[in-house]
Amino acid sequence: MKTLVDAPTIDHRVHIVRERVVRHEALIHGPVSLLDRVGNTPLLRLHRLSADLPAGVEVYGKAEWFNPGGSVKDRPALRIIEVAEQRGQLTPDKIIIDSTSGNTGIAYAWIGALKGYRVTLVMPENVSEERKKILRAFGAELIFSDPLEGSDGALRLVRQIVAENPDRYFYADQYNNPENWRAHFHTTGPEIWAQTQGRITHLVAGVGTSGTLMGTARFLRQMNPDIAVIAVEPEDELAIIEGLKHMETAIVPGIYDPEIIDRTVHVSPEQAYRMAQRLAREEGWFVGFSAGAAMHVALEVARSLEEGVVVAMLPDSGTKYLSLLPPA
Ligand SMILES: Cc1ncc(COP(=O)(O)O)c(C=O)c1O
Repeated sequence: MKTLVDAPTIDHRVHIVRERVVRHEALIHGPVSLLDRVGNTPLLRLHRLSADLPAGVEVYGKAEWFNPGGSVKDRPALRIIEVAEQRGQLTPDKIIIDSTSGNTGIAYAWIGALKGYRVTLVMPENVSEERKKILRAFGAELIFSDPLEGSDGALRLVRQIVAENPDRYFYADQYNNPENWRAHFHTTGPEIWAQTQGRITHLVAGVGTSGTLMGTARFLRQMNPDIAVIAVEPEDELAIIEGLKHMETAIVPGIYDPEIIDRTVHVSPEQAYRMAQRLAREEGWFVGFSAGAAMHVALEVARSLEEGVVVAMLPDSGTKYLSLLPPA
């Protein structure tokens, strides 16, 4: 039975409806709410890096850094928050909490600020200074977990915090919340289908929570069951490519379904870094390392084809990794 604490108050309902009205008007009169700028990112075609490929092979990158928070994670964060609002699970008295080492945290933080919710994020202490500063700029509270335990340590800690005080929080739980992959099923997948005029043959994406790959692939497979789905992971548990998980040794996300994946390719941080550098220097795309990893694999796949349309997900830009780049 629903308790009074769970039920959205009249004020909150009014707030949600008013926000919807503002956004609806924005659609008619031009962009007003930043929330409407989530998604509809460009699909960019590779030029110089694909020059040696057969004429019938095209390679594209889905430029997710065009989202307002600078990453692909704006999509699931927005859907997780808005579905929880509609179900009455997220009310103004609740604090949005999750474990995240970066992009999802930034997404919760700016969306929470815009909508008036408090946001608490649990992350390993060794997350880059840029990330911590960006999150604090949006007013998020940060709780640090043992850096030696990586993202799994943050996951264990957030579960403990929520278990100790369940009524205080809305636990967004990006690793197990189906609204994560559904965000991509309803937005990323249809966008790629439309932007390639239904010609996509191969989808390549890194897996962290796996929401991007699961949701996008499920939609695309529904449109064409022959589309190949290729997952990208770091080569082993010690290889760090921010945002990506080595599934064999990590806590496997509840939303991860290996049945959807045709092939998993493992990439070293050096390969990811080198491709990110080439994308910046030869294409003018300043991307993060997980984007470098995905494009490394996309080009490998493209080289094995005579004809095809390969799409790689490029989750974020390189600006959050500046401190990891070697000095000039
Ligand atoms: C930089 C980066 N790349 C890739 C991913 C993986 O995306 P997903 O969690 O949808 O698998 C993430 C997720 O946080 C990320 O931040």
